Amino acid sequence: MEKQELKHFDSQNIRTFGRRHGKKLSARKQFLMENLLPKIAPKTDESGAILEIGFGNGEHLRELSIRNPDKIIIGAEPFANGVAALLSAITNESDNNVLNEYKNIRVFNDDVRLLLKDFKNIKFSEIWILHPDPWPKTRHEKRRLLNHEFLNLLSKHIGETGKIIIGTDHWEYYDWIIEQLKQTNLKIQTTELDTIKTRYQVKNKAGTTAPKYLILGN
Ligand SMILES: C[S@@+](CC[C@H](N)C(=O)[O-])C[C@H]1O[C@@H](n2cnc3c(N)ncnc32)[C@H](O)[C@@H]1O
Repeated sequence: MEKQELKHFDSQNIRTFGRRHGKKLSARKQFLMENLLPKIAPKTDESGAILEIGFGNGEHLRELSIRNPDKIIIGAEPFANGVAALLSAITNESDNNVLNEYKNIRVFNDDVRLLLKDFKNIKFSEIWILHPDPWPKTRHEKRRLLNHEFLNLLSKHIGETGKIIIGTDHWEYYDWIIEQLKQTNLKIQTTELDTIKTRYQVKNKAGTTAPKYLILGN
């Protein structure tokens, strides 16, 4: 029993992402990280919001913002350079103010599991995870974010009507996620999705041709 508890603790605390920092930020990006980021931190009373986990440079997060002007769009990303790239893209270069079309964006520059600890009662209308790190080596499999424990946690955050939308071009990870779903109550609603290509997808690191999608609900 004790061992099981420890295992549970470990899998939810193990690092699921690669780098936190890349090359040195430009002066403007550094300014935005110090001055804008704290101002657009997500609040705990944003039920109904859309969450994107691991948004990379934020192309899809911006798309979500434009497509859903009446909703709050929350992005969680531990990689500082990705966050800085998003902040730069959503602000006016002349005065560093957030452009009107992106005023609904909120950003958390850390592991989404920390955010969800503080947001225990929040129900999101949509939770997006596009191209989660595939961790292809067997010895790294434990680093995969979308294990059944995490999927069960997400399922509590979508209530009856919300959706979890997953996309990956790593087909082995896709099948692995489907296996993990057997240990949850989540159901596959569809696998069809028409969405923009993210930076990762354009680079197509997995070497396969097309991403596969899973749209899940309770
Ligand atoms: C392969 S990249 C894909 C980025 C982006 N979604 C795209 O398609 O271009 C996976 C991203 O997930 C982020 N990530 C991994 N674990 C995370 C976690 N626990 N919370 C939030 N983001 C995470 C990584 O930092 C990385 O930027």
